[in-house]
Amino acid sequence: MKIAVVGTGYVGLVTGTCLAETGNDVTCVDINVQKVEKMKAGELPIYEPGLEQLFHRNISQGRLHFTTDLASAIADAKIIFLALPTPPGGDGAADLSYVLGAAKDIAKIITDYKVIVTKSTVPVGTADKVRAVMAAETTIEYAVVSNPEFLREGVAVEDFMKPDRVVVGTTDERARKLMAELYGPYVRQGNPVIFMDERSSELTKYAANSFLATKISFMNEIANMCELVGADVDMVRRGIGADERIGKRFLFAGIGYGGSCFPKDVQALAKSAEENNYDFKILNSVMSVNEIQKKVLVEKVKKYYNGDIKGKHFALWGLAFKPETDDIREAPALYIIDELIAAGATVKAFDPEAMPNIKGVVGDKIAYGNNPYDTLENADALLILTEWSLFRTPDFDKLSSALKAKVVFDGRNLYDLEKMIDCGFYYNSIGRKVVG
Ligand code: UDX
Repeated sequence: MKIAVVGTGYVGLVTGTCLAETGNDVTCVDINVQKVEKMKAGELPIYEPGLEQLFHRNISQGRLHFTTDLASAIADAKIIFLALPTPPGGDGAADLSYVLGAAKDIAKIITDYKVIVTKSTVPVGTADKVRAVMAAETTIEYAVVSNPEFLREGVAVEDFMKPDRVVVGTTDERARKLMAELYGPYVRQGNPVIFMDERSSELTKYAANSFLATKISFMNEIANMCELVGADVDMVRRGIGADERIGKRFLFAGIGYGGSCFPKDVQALAKSAEENNYDFKILNSVMSVNEIQKKVLVEKVKKYYNGDIKGKHFALWGLAFKPETDDIREAPALYIIDELIAAGATVKAFDPEAMPNIKGVVGDKIAYGNNPYDTLENADALLILTEWSLFRTPDFDKLSSALKAKVVFDGRNLYDLEKMIDCGFYYNSIGRKVVG
């Protein structure tokens, strides 16, 4: 099937590449000339495990194309995906100008029936807005479909190729058939393509992310309780996760959720509730718990040094908002670096992928290591902010000898308490006993 994908950000590129992988002919459109030239030359502008191989294969086999010309991209396409940014506007509501702008441009060009799919996370009612914008420009028939993405950064290719479910919001029978045909190869193992109306589909995306964020904030509060009553959050997590109604996943306490989706989507759903005169109390708590949780690790550090960290030097392991990505959007590391520096401390950090991005934001306010161990020299303590696999089984002898003091603050609960006691560390993690 011929497909066009408008917008070659993270979602657009993963969607376009994975759709080409099952034999579709996909053209990705972007207004950024330089970016398009680079992609044509085989350069992938994002880091995502497994994507590069698929990207190159589909370009070389002639199924994946890039252009800045919207008209040629959509001319023969049956389905047009809109994978455009929906940043939070000044009031917290999603800014739809990119999506609606593209819909208008598309409406001016089309000459036959098209299925326009909103892939970006958009507020309830957006499909109707897209339809209205298009209706003002054309009399050609088209369907506007909501098809939210549930891709996790770091495993996005796997999530796309083998989704738990695909949600499609449409009441147009022709569009429904085309979408079922398109997603058929991805749900061979029997996972469902769930068809519903557009509004339910739009809300499903917000509800899924907000529910997951709620799980995390809930566990972060349980962790704080554990510290007060002398319980261990890891044990509580295992104890409740074994109940299938609760589930094992997404119960890890830490230093707050970040990334490009959770903070934005929880805020947008709260905003949308407010616009409907509904006070969504849980969401407001989820957000405020997350703000507080970002501060927990720095507070532990300050408390350890009796409130004064001026002149102290810290090693930081991990800067990305989570492992297997170079993404630092809303990463707790950004807040933590600012706080440490504002309090007069110095920092040397290492992250396997995210250092170029962090450099772009904090520049030379901090130093950067070439590997985890060379951040440790002269450091008063090590702070762990992202649970990269690389940090899970460090050489504890090297850690002991390189650090000035054997002090570790772990925002991701990577190590066994027993191990840290045996190695003689002071070890302060989240929702567990402080040892050493
Ligand atoms: C998320 C959703 O999972 C995905 O379905 C949606 O399409 C986009 O948003 P992503 O932002 O890539 O994906 O990351 P995810 O793995 O969900 O983690 C989000 C944040 O929650 C990270 O900051 C992570 O550290 C945090 N988290 C996750 C926890 O603190 N504890 C957990 O148990 C799980």
